[in-house]
Amino acid sequence: MKGIILAGGLGTRLNPLTKTSSKQLLPVFNKPLIYYPLSTLMLAGIKDICIISTPKHLPTYEELLGRGNNFGIKITYVEQPRPSGIPDAFLVAESFLEQSKCALILGDNIFHGSGLGRKLIDFQNVVGAKIFGYKVKNPEDYGVATLDKESKVTSLEEKPQLSASNIAIPGLYFFDEKVCEIAKTLDVGPRGEKEIVSLLNNYLKNELLNLEMLPRGTAWFDSGTFKDMHDASTYVRLMEERTGESVGDPSEVAQKMGWL
Ligand code: TTP
Repeated sequence: MKGIILAGGLGTRLNPLTKTSSKQLLPVFNKPLIYYPLSTLMLAGIKDICIISTPKHLPTYEELLGRGNNFGIKITYVEQPRPSGIPDAFLVAESFLEQSKCALILGDNIFHGSGLGRKLIDFQNVVGAKIFGYKVKNPEDYGVATLDKESKVTSLEEKPQLSASNIAIPGLYFFDEKVCEIAKTLDVGPRGEKEIVSLLNNYLKNELLNLEMLPRGTAWFDSGTFKDMHDASTYVRLMEERTGESVGDPSEVAQKMGWL
């Protein structure tokens, strides 16, 4: 399985910091934001990783992370000329993927919780698409899934004004080999981008979409605003100080996985 980190975007909600820097290079406590999604993919057992960002910022990611040797992984860099939506990742990274299964993580999403690595490793053999659910108080800010009594997804909506469901879909998705072909068929939505919900709806229509709730006690941060960045920084500082263990450190994950 290969992995993609989507680390482009405009980051307008973090202006003026994102006038000169890419959002995913900004600090979350003591590390650049991208270290956290990178560590998550590594915990999922993924060693072949593509970082997608803007032509302006991609060289800085390369300077920061190199070819991945320090972490026992291989990193490939791919430009996204314009922020044309999350499924656009599968168009710009098609030749990297070479029709393998893949995990896509948004560069501003942080996951932390005990046993998460073991759980993610199980998704290496995904059939169709696999997503997660996470209960939130503000579903209108996210892609939202409605479930039936058997916890099967019945519908998906992007940032609904009024939603009967409070189950948000975090920015970590596992897809089978067909994802690039399906991404190509998607229309551009009203926001002028290809929407991740359209891609997932395609799998849902073919009964190939699986949702699993993230275990209670798993922390998930979508670091799009100053408040999110501040909350995530505070969480990482408290966890590191109280447990004496690092959160989101790719070197430590590489040691743990026996890759160095
Ligand atoms: P968003 O937070 O939706 O967009 P953004 O980062 O541009 O921020 P803002 O809304 O404040 O302008 O993006 C989620 C993540 O996906 C983020 O890490 C950036 C990344 N992204 C891309 O790399 N390319 C894209 O085309 C899109 C839509 C997002």
